[in-house]
Amino acid sequence: MSQNIYQTTYNKYKQSIDDCISALVKNSEPKSLYDPVNYILSGGGKRIRPLMVMLCCQISGGDSDAAINAGAAIEVLHNFTLVHDDIMDNALTRRGNETIHKKWNVNTAILAGDNLIAIAYKSLLKTESANIKKIVEVFTEGVIEVCEGQSYDKDFEERENVSSEEYLLMIRKKTAKLLETSAVMGALIGNADDRSIGELRNFALDLGMAFQIQDDMLDIIADEKELGKKIGGDLIEGKKTFLLLNAFEHTTDPTETELLKSIVNEKGIHKNEDETINKIRSIYEKNGIIENAKKEIENYTNDARQRLEYFKDSEAKKMLFWFSEMLLNRLH
Ligand code: IPE
Ligand code: IPE
Ligand code: MG
Ligand code: MG
Ligand code: MG
Repeated sequence: MSQNIYQTTYNKYKQSIDDCISALVKNSEPKSLYDPVNYILSGGGKRIRPLMVMLCCQISGGDSDAAINAGAAIEVLHNFTLVHDDIMDNALTRRGNETIHKKWNVNTAILAGDNLIAIAYKSLLKTESANIKKIVEVFTEGVIEVCEGQSYDKDFEERENVSSEEYLLMIRKKTAKLLETSAVMGALIGNADDRSIGELRNFALDLGMAFQIQDDMLDIIADEKELGKKIGGDLIEGKKTFLLLNAFEHTTDPTETELLKSIVNEKGIHKNEDETINKIRSIYEKNGIIENAKKEIENYTNDARQRLEYFKDSEAKKMLFWFSEMLLNRLH
């Protein structure tokens, strides 16, 4: 298959996921609830988690369509995490649009998020599979771990020192876990054996680790319009990102170290935001921090890809490989 065909296949899956999601919400009243719910669900997004569910079902010998309700469920759950994450991170833009708490207000965003969790379960329970109990358990464990990860993320804003092990645990829970959940659900719907489930689980977990490190990197190197989120948002909030922690390890110039320390001590940036963000970007560039992040992303992606070697050649296997490539090259 040429590169073009993979892209076309992705577009096709994405369209069927979008259709499935838009069919999920039939209510329109009260508007104060359903306007924001529909706003977030129809506001774009790469839909990578449902794609993972469907492809992992397919590589396990199942029909990708059998996994669509579970895929929509995890995407709706992901959208819930975004709505609440944007409140927690004081983010004003998402996918190029105003965030719900900015456009409406915080209470509206909290409630829209609550509703999204229920909508996610509603979609999940449409899944027809002998493994349905296990699938719902896995999904629920995913919800719990994202909350744990988000809790670490917020705790770390207040902490002076965060080790790289702690950082890795935090991103595994807040981000990689939902990709892992997606892969395991897909494999269960496709009736995969335990070994295959394990390989797909680790494929998705490592890809998820790469994904969050890249998200941290894009926060500082992406184009704001392309990214659809505020550049430098992590620095403004005093987040312990891969790049900030790595910069502490590799920066020796006292003036540079001082600036990095001010992010931690002042818990973010409170004045001259853009100027400070640009200075930190220069520190990252000068000290090879961006390159270090890129290497880490590539390492995790390569580890992920090795898990695919267990599977015999198929369209789904090729698509999963292409998927890992697409994530590596993403600009948002
Ligand atoms: C953003 O997720 C939140 C993270 C876990 C980094 P995505 O980058 O998958 O967001 P959308 O759904 O494509 O907008
Ligand atoms: C994403 O972390 C984790 C979840 C949404 C659960 P971020 O806070 O880095 O995600 P973005 O950058 O706002 O999309
Ligand atoms: Mg966050
Ligand atoms: Mg955020
Ligand atoms: Mg981020």
